Amino acid sequence: MTAGPRMRVLRSPEAVRRQVRAWRAAGERTAFVPTMGYLHDGHLSLVRRARRNADRVAASIFVNPAQFGPREDFGAYPRDLPRDLGLLRSEGVDLCFVPATGRMYPPGHRTEVHVTGLEDVLEGASRPGHFGGVALVVLKLLHVVEPDVLVLGQKDAQQAVILERMIADLDLAVRVARGPIVREPDGLAMSSRNVYLSPEERRAAPVLRRSLVRVERAARNGERSAARLLKLVRDEFAREPRARLDTVAVVDAASLEPLKRLRGRVLVPVAARLGRTRLIDNVEFTVEEDGR
Ligand code: PAJ
Repeated sequence: MTAGPRMRVLRSPEAVRRQVRAWRAAGERTAFVPTMGYLHDGHLSLVRRARRNADRVAASIFVNPAQFGPREDFGAYPRDLPRDLGLLRSEGVDLCFVPATGRMYPPGHRTEVHVTGLEDVLEGASRPGHFGGVALVVLKLLHVVEPDVLVLGQKDAQQAVILERMIADLDLAVRVARGPIVREPDGLAMSSRNVYLSPEERRAAPVLRRSLVRVERAARNGERSAARLLKLVRDEFAREPRARLDTVAVVDAASLEPLKRLRGRVLVPVAARLGRTRLIDNVEFTVEEDGR
């Protein structure tokens, strides 16, 4: 890939807004990829998707304290800004917003964002407050960047559902594009948190994907009972003692409401613990009413 003009690394919201507005005035569209850094190929696939969707690509790197619970890994979350900026640069990103925590959340900030009903279920039930923090920071980032397209990963399907709902409900003029889950060769979904895994836990981690492959195959072969799909997942985890299944559900992919019988667009999210690390994965597919 040819290196374009230098990527701008901006710390102030005003400078970001000025730049993106200048692009818009010149008739150029901007796609935006928000991240918490420690980038891997999953993130970079979104950058490439952004590139295909717009004339300019803006990214952000911000480990958002508002989406971590008091007993979660905010302090320990892996960080490597120089490496991340190098990767974004080599992907031809035009601008990277790297705000300071104190600028995003100055003393006295009070406003919260809640996407009720969607934020408390599934991952939200295990991580109270998490999705409120995600919605708040992404709304703030969208107001700073004002992109034409927001690029999100299917890896965090519930996050994407919540943000799409927020964008529709608040009439934000941004289109959402979702990129598919990028995986390691053995099926483990790429995640910044994979570095926490011990070698033994790493070997056990593909159980999440294996259980979902079984689910997808069964649905393709005509299985329509959610209970039986859930059992497939539990059985697969029962064979991997190093992993502890945390949550699994069969839900409507838009409303996140549990399904008894599969119909329409179906999402099956799983979360599991390997030692102290919590990993998530999911599969989404469409079933026709009558079988296939
Ligand atoms: P982060 O976990 O850094 O992820 C940034 C984006 O990359 C998200 O849209 C996520 O779904 C996507 N992503 C992560 N792993 C992926 C994979 N293996 N394949 C495809 N896409 C993948 O998600 C967040 O940050 C934060 O919640 C954020 C939206 C930035 C708000 O703070």
